[in-house]
Amino acid sequence: MCGIFGYIGDKEALPFLLEGLKKLEYRGYDSAGIATLHKGKLFVTKCVGKISELETTLQKKPIGGEVGIGHTRWATHGQPSHVNSHPHEDCKSELVVVHNGIIENYLELRRELADRGHDFRSSTDTEVLAHLIEEKYAGNLLLAVREALLLVRGSYALAVISENDPQKIVAARSGSPLIIGHGEEESFLSSDIPAMLKYTSRITQLENGEMAEITATETRIYDQHGKSLAKTPSLISWDPESAEKGGYSHFMLKEIHEQPSAIRKTIEGRVEADSHKIHFDELNLTEEEIRKVNRVVFTACGTSWHAGLVGEYLFEQLAKLPTEVEYAAEFRYRSPIIDENTLVIAITQSGETADTLAAVWEAKARNAKTIAICNVTGSTIAREAHGVVYTNAGPEIGVASTKAFTTQLTIIYLLAILFGKRRGAISEKEATSLISDLISLPQKVERVLQGESLIETVADTFRSATNALYLGRGKGFPIALEGALKLKEVSYIHAEGYPAAEMKHGPIALIDKNMPVVVLAFSGRRYEKTLGNIEEVKARGGRVIVVASEGDKQIASQADEVIYIPQTSEALSPLLAVIPLQILAYYIAVKRGCHVDQPRNLAKSVTVE
Ligand code: AGP
Repeated sequence: MCGIFGYIGDKEALPFLLEGLKKLEYRGYDSAGIATLHKGKLFVTKCVGKISELETTLQKKPIGGEVGIGHTRWATHGQPSHVNSHPHEDCKSELVVVHNGIIENYLELRRELADRGHDFRSSTDTEVLAHLIEEKYAGNLLLAVREALLLVRGSYALAVISENDPQKIVAARSGSPLIIGHGEEESFLSSDIPAMLKYTSRITQLENGEMAEITATETRIYDQHGKSLAKTPSLISWDPESAEKGGYSHFMLKEIHEQPSAIRKTIEGRVEADSHKIHFDELNLTEEEIRKVNRVVFTACGTSWHAGLVGEYLFEQLAKLPTEVEYAAEFRYRSPIIDENTLVIAITQSGETADTLAAVWEAKARNAKTIAICNVTGSTIAREAHGVVYTNAGPEIGVASTKAFTTQLTIIYLLAILFGKRRGAISEKEATSLISDLISLPQKVERVLQGESLIETVADTFRSATNALYLGRGKGFPIALEGALKLKEVSYIHAEGYPAAEMKHGPIALIDKNMPVVVLAFSGRRYEKTLGNIEEVKARGGRVIVVASEGDKQIASQADEVIYIPQTSEALSPLLAVIPLQILAYYIAVKRGCHVDQPRNLAKSVTVE
């Protein structure tokens, strides 16, 4: 949450800062600001609203300088307003700070600083940092930042520039991500990698507790005690194009369409083409350790948690392992009963979600083995877990997760087969047939995408709804939850996902002619029962939109609208069934005029609790 971008080099900083912030806008977009140093003087411009507002303001009154930092905000402390926007200044307006995270003891610090005569302008937690650094400054900015941070509790990624030390950016990280990019005669600082891919693919990740002193040509990194660290930059292989819209009107639509290739890339290198053998060297688990696992716990938030729910069904079915799914925020504060034979699988697109990270720490503290299923290379959770399996989906920029979800499901499916084989729960023959089904899946996803225009028509009948219900049985239930979440996020229609059988225990009271009900009724052993639920909705005047398997002739007479998906095994049906629901949510949101890629109040990575 919140995005930070910094530039120092031999060119004007402003265009880089604006461009970088636009790419980071998915992290927060209620207000934004930029500060530059021009001929040793600080210039600050900020405004409420999106980066486009800031850009308009800066077009009227540009600010020069070859050093600068910018911020796009997702408010935690203090409402979105000009005064609460970052960068925040000290009393003398000689230095500015941008910050992502939460300073937990800010009230106490603020009181003390105010007692010592500091003048506060905002109601943010961040402003205490500016005043603390001001107080600690005695000729060395890096030292002042370090001393200030010793007094702070909480999480932060921050960047500071100062008139007193104008040829550098000082950055520090504890909890929230911060990456330094190394160019020719210029350096960058960013909250994520894609925002600077256009300029450089040579990066250094700051680790927790580390600080950096960044000039145009050099970056010095220190640990929290001030000890200089030798870190070798890594080369990122993501192609800069992958972080652009590529002709689509929104990232969400582009990412929906990238699913066939994302799933292929996720399978590639993990499944042998001829023998269909699965390789997961990155698990960092010995054969013995795999066999010893007697319980699996998935932990995640949001869409990734829904992937964990599908994982529960798959691991129980294919690996015959007792499996649970836990919201990361709940898991970390309970007293989970786990030990060295428990495998905790954290699922996270960003690898930066604060609660999921804390859940991994909790699991490690209790001696469990941990694996991260993650999309962002080198992210915090990827580095904290004992093993990491990357989803290879490429950068996901749209706030509503799409390709990350289906690639997470791909990994989980493969892991469930692997564990099933190692534990003798499924035969070689069964495993081979399950893998063949997966290999043919991307083509089927392509066929679902070909039905986009029909789904767009269905979206027309849905656009003025105020509530919606999504029902599914078995592995269709997590997909009902995910379909409802997608709709809520991007279109602001209230939607609920339910196991279809639960409908009679309450939600049925809501059904009338104004309530669209989306039912997942793909083939499988629960199909007949789901038909019964459709009848119950129809009998009460509800409008039914069904996602059914191709060849199902019966369903058309029972539903108001049918979206067909290709036939596949029950185990893989969630992967196909979710796609029409993503497209449906997308078009409903577009038709309602919603800001699809940056829905209100949301941020892509939730890096605060
Ligand atoms: C998905 O559409 C959401 N934006 C959100 O629920 C997301 O899945 C959740 O915040 C978890 O993020 P992560 O996968 O990066 O950990």
